[in-house]
Amino acid sequence: MRLVSLLVFAFVSIASTTILQNGQIRPNNYPDTAIASILPTDPGWVSYLPNSPELSYKGRWDHQYISWCFGNYTSEGVLVAYRIDWQDWMLTNLTENSTHLFVTPSTVGYNITQPTNAVPTFEMRVKNWAYGVQIECVHAPQSAARLVHIPNYDRTMELISDSLSAGQYGTLEGISSYSRGLMYGLGNVECSITAYPGICLHDSRCDGNLHGQTYQWLKIPDTSGRALDIYGDGPDIPAWEFAAHPAADITVINLGTNDISTANDITVSEFHDSYVQLINEVHARWPTSQIIVISLWSGFSQVGNTWVQGGGFIDTIQDVRRSFNNGALNERGGNGFVHYFNTTGILEHNDIGPLYHPTDVGHIKLARHLMQYIKLTFGWILEQTSPEIQHDTLYSNDESSY
Ligand SMILES: *[C@@H]1O[C@H](CO)[C@@H](O)[C@H](O)[C@H]1NC(C)=O
Ligand SMILES: *[C@@H]1O[C@H](CO)[C@@H](O)[C@H](O)[C@H]1NC(C)=O
Ligand SMILES: *[C@@H]1O[C@H](CO)[C@@H](O)[C@H](O)[C@H]1NC(C)=O
Ligand SMILES: *[C@@H]1O[C@H](CO)[C@@H](O)[C@H](O)[C@H]1NC(C)=O
Ligand SMILES: *[C@@H]1O[C@H](CO)[C@@H](O)[C@H](O)[C@H]1NC(C)=O
Repeated sequence: MRLVSLLVFAFVSIASTTILQNGQIRPNNYPDTAIASILPTDPGWVSYLPNSPELSYKGRWDHQYISWCFGNYTSEGVLVAYRIDWQDWMLTNLTENSTHLFVTPSTVGYNITQPTNAVPTFEMRVKNWAYGVQIECVHAPQSAARLVHIPNYDRTMELISDSLSAGQYGTLEGISSYSRGLMYGLGNVECSITAYPGICLHDSRCDGNLHGQTYQWLKIPDTSGRALDIYGDGPDIPAWEFAAHPAADITVINLGTNDISTANDITVSEFHDSYVQLINEVHARWPTSQIIVISLWSGFSQVGNTWVQGGGFIDTIQDVRRSFNNGALNERGGNGFVHYFNTTGILEHNDIGPLYHPTDVGHIKLARHLMQYIKLTFGWILEQTSPEIQHDTLYSNDESSY
């Protein structure tokens, strides 16, 4: 085991609430990994500054090593998931300006025998879209470790959405989301998820978000208050440098659930035109990207003796697809690059939680159906091994006598 690493983070705040899952209080007493700080000049360590080529930043990090959603204006106690290779996630809370020891000899995966020429990876993900970390330095013990750059996977995906794909109300939020489950489930895919709760597709103020995705997706920062503090809302908000990052082979769009809310009141024609605009923005930057538009399920209602899936902008999203596909809706009708993913029949009413978002099981169903759709539509293979790990998702039963 050569890779031993420490990450130093700076960040900021968090509200604490009690969450019940299956009638029990969800545990949140994660192991404390904080240790005394290490300076790059301290003997015994090789230190990697945040701009070191050995570190791989996935998704929207900016030039200050602040991710798309996160920065040093975030909350105390942010939860991160981390792991060696594709072992189970481990979880720990971080504090601002602190040093954390993530890998010790007792860390799961430490003693794994690597296949020939394989290099162990250390991966860290922030659980929540609105909190984050800023990398200050990564230390590795001189005697045992050296970091090397991990080449990008050949396949790349992007998912543009709102709370449904950010994993809001999922057990581990982003880590439990169908978006992560989809891209990790496919395996060997570079993934980027640009999803923020409450956001509309149309460029409008929705649920506290100053802009919709037709505007925000082109920018480095997200729509959070913290991002506003860092970047402001002027005309000089920095644009995301698409040319500096690999193009997405597949772009998934799941937007409109907030546009259709009466509180936001976006008209059908505004939504339609903005949807066409967003697709054109994506295609202008990634001309060969295949785009999947997801039909909106908008919850379930009881009808007679059963439950029926709702929907939002059903005809409009189909019209958007037709306008890019020689007027055809189904796959055989045209050869366009916009594809319609029909969600009807994937979720059942109890796959939607009391707060109107998919349960962990609902997320898994969506991820698995999208994986199969992508396999059938684009011929992508499903890797025999995949990095998808559903951590802390309590739908197993360890009682044999009930
Ligand atoms: C956040 O980082 C920026 C840039 O390094 C710095 O100017 C600012 O003072 C920091 N804010 C806090 C609250 O630490
Ligand atoms: C750790 O993070 C979890 C999830 O956000 C949170 O509920 C908990 O209060 C945090 N704990 C600490 C000590 O910050
Ligand atoms: C961070 O912690 C180190 C070590 O405790 C301290 O010397 C330094 O002043 C702190 N920096 C900030 C910005 O709080
Ligand atoms: C790895 O091996 C060492 C030495 O046998 C042992 O002390 C340690 O607990 C092992 N770690 C794990 C995660 O199994
Ligand atoms: C979506 O699926 C449902 C259920 O199979 C079907 O009734 C509906 O016609 C489909 N919509 C489209 C546009 O194919």
